[in-house]
Amino acid sequence: MKLRKGVFISFEGIEGTGKTTQAKLLSERLSDEGCVTVLTHEPGGTVIGSRIRELLLLPEHREMSYMTELLLYNAARVQHLAERILPAVNEGTIVITDRFTDSTIAYQGYARGIDLSLINSIDRIATGGIRPDLTILFDLDVEEGLRRNRGVNKIDRLELESIEFHKRVRAGYLKIAESEPERFRIVDASRPPEEIGVKVWEIVSTAMQNLKLKIQN
Ligand code: TMP
Repeated sequence: MKLRKGVFISFEGIEGTGKTTQAKLLSERLSDEGCVTVLTHEPGGTVIGSRIRELLLLPEHREMSYMTELLLYNAARVQHLAERILPAVNEGTIVITDRFTDSTIAYQGYARGIDLSLINSIDRIATGGIRPDLTILFDLDVEEGLRRNRGVNKIDRLELESIEFHKRVRAGYLKIAESEPERFRIVDASRPPEEIGVKVWEIVSTAMQNLKLKIQN
């Protein structure tokens, strides 16, 4: 049985999938339907998290060790959960976060090569194993994603990694999704944004009905 009062949704994917735009659209649509919604993102979502984000993404921080990176993403997450996500979900709000723990498993685990059991141990400290009720993975060809991001001049430290790195991120995401089919829905991010918006709404409204049924059980 689901113990939280609200609904916790995460959007995941490689760079340039358009998930941030889709998260905004979903949040607006839910508000139009009369739902109380919080739209947030990682790393960030709090003042402290935004500071940590700067440290993580500045291109000149080239010397950052993989372990520093892993711990900083988790530190931002601890703050995000405590300050933003949990209070809202416990009050019955729908929280949509642009990235959560699956980003760490895909980027620091599958792409950087940090041992997945170590990542899980740190995650248990950071989140207590909390996972979203629903995760939408926006899947896209890596070259296309990076090309789209360069088009809007968005270059951060992680985006400067090789194509091979980003291919490992994508493959990692697909593995995580395959291992948790109940939680994940995969959306083809190469489709036009309007079509993706319709798909996302279909997924979220169906999931919300199922979650409500579970709460009543
Ligand atoms: P974005 O929010 O603009 O996508 O930027 C966040 C960057 O940080 C993106 O390259 C993915 C990366 N990232 C990780 O490597 N691990 C994480 O745990 C999270 C949340 C993001």
